[in-house]
Amino acid sequence: MTNNKRVFSGIQPTGELHLGNYVGALKNWVTMQDEYETIYCVVDLHAMTIPYEPDQLRASRIETAKMLLAVGIDPDRSLLYFQSDVPAHSELSWILSTLTGLGQLERMTHFKEKADRAGQNLGILAYPVLQAADILIHKVHAVPVGDDQAQHLELTRDVAERFNQRFGEVFPIPERITPEIGARVMSLTDPTSKMSKSDPSLKSRILLTDSADQILKKVKSAVTDTGTTVSYDREEKAGVSNLLELFSFFTGRSISDLAEEYADSGYGAFKIAVGEAIADGLSPISKRYHDLSDADVAELMSRNGATARERAEDEMVAVREAVGLS
Ligand code: AMP
Ligand code: TRP
Repeated sequence: MTNNKRVFSGIQPTGELHLGNYVGALKNWVTMQDEYETIYCVVDLHAMTIPYEPDQLRASRIETAKMLLAVGIDPDRSLLYFQSDVPAHSELSWILSTLTGLGQLERMTHFKEKADRAGQNLGILAYPVLQAADILIHKVHAVPVGDDQAQHLELTRDVAERFNQRFGEVFPIPERITPEIGARVMSLTDPTSKMSKSDPSLKSRILLTDSADQILKKVKSAVTDTGTTVSYDREEKAGVSNLLELFSFFTGRSISDLAEEYADSGYGAFKIAVGEAIADGLSPISKRYHDLSDADVAELMSRNGATARERAEDEMVAVREAVGLS
């Protein structure tokens, strides 16, 4: 049963999805299907803001959609589509850009990080405005994302408020939903930075398609802190604490309970137990992923694109009316 509230979230088709994506965001995407009307999007236009190859993007779009189905996005309950199939995202983005201050965009952490690395381009600066359009076009109430999206959600809320003040109440102000445990999964090779698909080291992250063997190996070689006691302290014992959070996520047991049980077991035995819990949790996902065919996924996405296009177009009628375009 849904409670008539809508949820939207998006993920970029850049590289293979990892444990941080799953724990920080996708798990919530799945559970929210029970309670809300859910709309999920592979944001391929966002993926063009960093250097890319067209063939790679073509393949990643399908792989990402396939992985979303594999983690449990149910096409009977959720609308899953490609952003570029719905031109209204770009149209609304343009309208919202006229309400967004350059200063606020230039202060975004995402812009500061990416602009240094990939060279300056308007797309990187405008990225959060397109994200705001993704969210607002569907008039949603909540957006499940990891911690790193806090700034983008704040901007979305600001822009929605500015729009409503200027043109009348059109958009609900969306809430950010982050998980209690695992809102920021840290890198296995450097527990002070987040697990990220742009890290050159494959050892730093667990892919959702990794085999049990690969997972175990990566967890065993995870950087942990000096000392021997397993205990939870994100400042002093970042590596062990990151593993404890993942252990808790995959077993459903509390961190304090697990820390007590493994306190004196030594890091080696602790890591094996964590690795096995992660491997068990991910194995049905990678099995489903390998069972899905590219052609079936492409066909589903094309149908859904048409549905999303119609719905977004309906919402745009009120927006154009409010701003004076009709
Ligand atoms: P991205 O991989 O940047 O496209 O992110 C897709 C989703 O996964 C977003 O909701 C992010 O907030 C979330 N996410 C990415 N990396 C992490 C991480 N290390 N920990 C928690 N959530 C993450
Ligand atoms: N910026 C998000 C990320 O990197 C992806 C994204 C684009 C998104 N549009 C969105 C997330 C709308 C939530 C809602 O993860």
